[in-house]
Amino acid sequence: MLPSVLPTETDHVPVLADEVVANLDPRPGETIVDGTFGAGGHATLLASRLRGDGKLIAIDRDPTVAPFFERFRRETGVKARLHHGEFSTVLQQLASNGVRVDIVLLDLGVSSMQLDRPDRGFSYAVDAPLDMRMDPGAPYSARELVNEADERELADIFRRYGEERFARQIARAIVKRRSREPFERTGDLVEVIKQAIPAPARFGEGHPAKRVFQALRIDVNDELGALERALPAALELLRPGGRLGVISFHSLEDRIVKQFLRREEQGCTCPPDFPVCVCGSEPSMRATPRRAIRPSAAEIARNPRAQSARLRVGTKV
Ligand SMILES: C[S@@+](CC[C@H](N)C(=O)[O-])C[C@H]1O[C@@H](n2cnc3c(N)ncnc32)[C@H](O)[C@@H]1O
Repeated sequence: MLPSVLPTETDHVPVLADEVVANLDPRPGETIVDGTFGAGGHATLLASRLRGDGKLIAIDRDPTVAPFFERFRRETGVKARLHHGEFSTVLQQLASNGVRVDIVLLDLGVSSMQLDRPDRGFSYAVDAPLDMRMDPGAPYSARELVNEADERELADIFRRYGEERFARQIARAIVKRRSREPFERTGDLVEVIKQAIPAPARFGEGHPAKRVFQALRIDVNDELGALERALPAALELLRPGGRLGVISFHSLEDRIVKQFLRREEQGCTCPPDFPVCVCGSEPSMRATPRRAIRPSAAEIARNPRAQSARLRVGTKV
């Protein structure tokens, strides 16, 4: 049974809000997919531009967004439906059912509600069950990962997804501790991480467990895999002239989006030393604008969580 979550005024502040609306530019009559509905902050802003004429398809893998969706529907009055599921799967299903839309938005990562709710286990700042699943019904949580992955696999996850300098030392300390007693709580994991990091490195560079927690969360939720699968599905779903917007929060995600847009802009997949194109692939997207959009200093001052956000937008040609 999931705890009930009721919307409040301070749920989640949508990042790059003006930039999302300006660059995705919704118009009356259009259909919008918000693949990461959360508290519906972006969805509400985008839907207000539909002026009551258009549709919004919301997706989230976290079923606790349902009350936020009900509030969204009540307050905006637009035609809307909510799909509970992983966005790449839902986008693929919509596309193969022949649905076509004008805008797809993905605002990646976890929401403030997920981070701030101790029982979800995303935060290193409070002791909680070791979980980190965005979908509490998913079979694989941080508890299984931390207690079952071998030392090398753990070190690789910490290095790859967290850019953790002490990945090997932390993985070794985890395996040693769990041979005595399995990990159940985030607090135990934080303690082991702190002890595994050399004392001078424990201070500075933020909380010592920050990078490991990010890495575990990315792996548990297959965040990069979901993004890789979602981008081509979103492209298929868009009508010509349709806009795709992706907000990412770290370089691993941003790189995937940037490379996807570059590939789709280029079209041709022939090796660079071919004198003429033999593949015949045409460009299918244009990055609009060319560079990632970053939050203003004023937004970062208001909402420090926006600091690392990057918005990339592509238009289907
Ligand atoms: C950063 S929040 C979005 C906040 C939202 N834009 C707003 O303004 O309220 C990300 C949301 O997307 C969901 N999410 C992240 N990855 C997902 C995926 N692969 N499939 C479905 N939902 C996902 C999370 O559960 C979370 O609710």
